[in-house]
Amino acid sequence: MLESERVLRLCSGVRPRGPLHLGHYFGVLRQWLSLQNKYECFFLIADVQALTTRPEKPEVLASSVRDVALDWLATGLDPAKASYVVQSRIPELAELTLYLQMLVRTGELRGNATMREEARALGQHHLYESVNDIQFALLGYPVAQVADILIFTTAPPGKGDCLVVPVGEDQLPHVELARTVAHRFNRLYGRVFLEPEAWIEQTPALPGTDGGYRMGKSRRSAILLTDSEAECAAKIRAMCTDPLRLAHGDPGHPHECPCFAFLTAFNRDPDDLRRRAAGCRSSETECEECKERLVDETRRLLGPLQERRAAFARDPVFVEDVLAEGARRARKVAGNTLERVKEAMCIARPPGKT
Ligand code: TRP
Repeated sequence: MLESERVLRLCSGVRPRGPLHLGHYFGVLRQWLSLQNKYECFFLIADVQALTTRPEKPEVLASSVRDVALDWLATGLDPAKASYVVQSRIPELAELTLYLQMLVRTGELRGNATMREEARALGQHHLYESVNDIQFALLGYPVAQVADILIFTTAPPGKGDCLVVPVGEDQLPHVELARTVAHRFNRLYGRVFLEPEAWIEQTPALPGTDGGYRMGKSRRSAILLTDSEAECAAKIRAMCTDPLRLAHGDPGHPHECPCFAFLTAFNRDPDDLRRRAAGCRSSETECEECKERLVDETRRLLGPLQERRAAFARDPVFVEDVLAEGARRARKVAGNTLERVKEAMCIARPPGKT
């Protein structure tokens, strides 16, 4: 078989929750950028999923969808190569979710670590309490996410085809469920789905500028892709560094330091990083020097990105075209997948249709 006959598909997504931050950039976006040339990519803006945790705030969704699209465009995800897919524009996803629900046990959802964490954060569920408090849509969203992924299978799967899902570690339970469901479906009804593969980004999650374990848990601890130069500099200069380095002259521990974690994520000059780490340990380098370096790195990344973002923001017609074209491409694939699924499940077509 010719290498060129294989279909290499990739899908991933984010919930729109307002402007993205550097944690997103280094956690997933940078990886997506490097993959967009090798794979047929579908990137979801998961607005319906966002409603499962914020059903009371639908009005913020539309602007958040646009924010994500602008951030992606500004970072360089090329809509000619990668499809931008707004979830609510693909009705096939809701239909596929319904069919896949037949193959998932409630216990599998109740045990889903990521969903439980989210429910707990919303105050809907406490570890040892019953599942009765959790909203049905929240409990069931992993099945909808399975549909988000499996809809992009090649159907029927060709030899050598693959479907990869590059995500952060927290999404692993959902991709695992997608594999399980694909396997079950294929065994019961014949092979329709590829078993998707999770690709976990190796860069560890960036800490918050307040030293919190993860950026984005609170807005103030995150450097947003839309923060001005002055805002970035202020956040960085106020940033926590090594918690054990209390006084000037104390030796530092670069691997305990959020500022060093950021510089490592930028990774533009490995020699400079090594020198800084050594200087920190021997207390020759002060935290301020690393912070200034980080201010500089951030300006270099975000300056051009923000200029591009502003240019796209001035062109709403272009942004809408990108979303319409993404939906068109996704629905073409989705329609085919759904047809195969219904055929396999013996769901008849309306009379008269061949
Ligand atoms: N759950 C993801 C998040 O919270 C978003 C998402 C929705 C997704 N559908 C997906 C990720 C499909 C990967 C594949 O950000």
